[in-house]
Amino acid sequence: MNKAISFNRIARYEGNVPRYTSYPTAVQFSDAVNSKDYTKWLQALSVEEPVSLYLHVPFCDELCRYCACNTLVMRREEAREAYGDLLIEELKRLTATLKTRRTVNFIHWGGGTPTTLPAKTMSKIMSFVRESFFVSENAEISIELDPRHFPLDYPDMLEACGTTRVSVGVQDLDDRVQKACGRIQSWEQTQSCIQAVRQVGIQSVNIDLIYGLPNQTLQSTRNTIQSVIRLQPDRLAVFGYAHVPWKFKRQTLLEGEKLPTMEERFEQRRIIDEELIKAGYDPIGLDHYALPHDEMSKAARNGTLHRNFQGYTVDKARVLLGVGASAISILPTGIVQNVTAPVDYKKAIERGGFPIIRGVARNDDDRMRWDIIERLMCDLSVDLKKIARKHNQTEILFDNILKNLRSFESDGLVKLSDYTIQVTEAGRPLLRNIAVLFDIYYHVAPQRHAQAI
Ligand SMILES: C[S@@+](CC[C@H](N)C(=O)[O-])C[C@H]1O[C@@H](n2cnc3c(N)ncnc32)[C@H](O)[C@@H]1O
Ligand code: SF4
Repeated sequence: MNKAISFNRIARYEGNVPRYTSYPTAVQFSDAVNSKDYTKWLQALSVEEPVSLYLHVPFCDELCRYCACNTLVMRREEAREAYGDLLIEELKRLTATLKTRRTVNFIHWGGGTPTTLPAKTMSKIMSFVRESFFVSENAEISIELDPRHFPLDYPDMLEACGTTRVSVGVQDLDDRVQKACGRIQSWEQTQSCIQAVRQVGIQSVNIDLIYGLPNQTLQSTRNTIQSVIRLQPDRLAVFGYAHVPWKFKRQTLLEGEKLPTMEERFEQRRIIDEELIKAGYDPIGLDHYALPHDEMSKAARNGTLHRNFQGYTVDKARVLLGVGASAISILPTGIVQNVTAPVDYKKAIERGGFPIIRGVARNDDDRMRWDIIERLMCDLSVDLKKIARKHNQTEILFDNILKNLRSFESDGLVKLSDYTIQVTEAGRPLLRNIAVLFDIYYHVAPQRHAQAI
């Protein structure tokens, strides 16, 4: 396929659209939802309903200029320990509200950089989790790691806590890109971090990369991906750089740098895709890759992949409880977010109740639209008739959307038959632009999202 034509084919659909890690998306969150609503939603959960846990640590050892995560530099060990106690306090409130001890099949530590917690603090929290929930024997327990700051006492502690998977931040290996981003990290540093976890028996490794960063060229992108493949990660998450300086001031530091154009971003993504497929990785959804033996690849093949605030997941739980500053919780009845700044989080925990700052209730229509968006984002195909019927609705609700999809069809980005949408390989980079057609709230402030390509 001619490269220029394929870019032109998709360029006209470019726009600022949500990442669709939930529906309604974070833009719909408001302060009308509070701790009382969350309590009510938690209490309404059936006792059989398994829950997943997301624990957020909002600290890093140094800040990367591109970063769009809720995090700050915190050097004081006592403050890091004290934050751990706040997490335990929030977990206590959850277990008190849920009343019965719930089954947990998935636990993820994210950030920021969760390894900024002293190893003994993380170990204490994990023991508390195991006392308060039934953590299943084959639970997936994962954590995000920064190879530049991986404490020596961590690998053994992670193994003792039952960790099964790590996610390692790399982003890019080129010197000029790393300098512009303020993140200097050698290939060897990444390799030794991966080796350290594999040595203690944690076999499953994900690597995060970003394209669209300052100074990235097509050649540097190819060099980075080829070097990363030599590390043999089981999975990769390949994100397009989200430039949202109105949300994250630190990104204004990149404004004097040369950011790749939309066409360059498209080509960088294509190069990464080409190299990974050549190396035996399966493309998954919008931005993930996995080796065929990996659970994520298997889930993508058999239609059981899911999506939540962590991106793609094999976790099928309908309830994700977020703990810690800025953490987001998803329940069938609504979505809530905790206060963002660690200092406000501390005050909110001290005040009592849950430290909720905003959220959104979900109605039947939201749940149906999420089903559609999730299947599109995960399977690249959706049977609208089947989903409408499951939600006691009729598929003719979507007739106008199907009409809007005709231009995608004539550009070879989707195939339509009856009420089934099948996104083609050419359409994969535009999954968000297809999902947005099902988002009835989208007209609100579209500039608040990052560009799609
Ligand atoms: C919490 S960090 C990963 C763990 C650790 N802090 C590190 O950086 O090694 C989560 C990931 O988000 C991605 N990320 C952060 N800012 C981004 C942005 N502006 N655009 C796209 N991806 C971004 C990066 O790939 C990063 O690895
Ligand atoms: S990319 Fe990771 S290390 Fe860098 S600032 Fe963001 S969370 Fe911290």
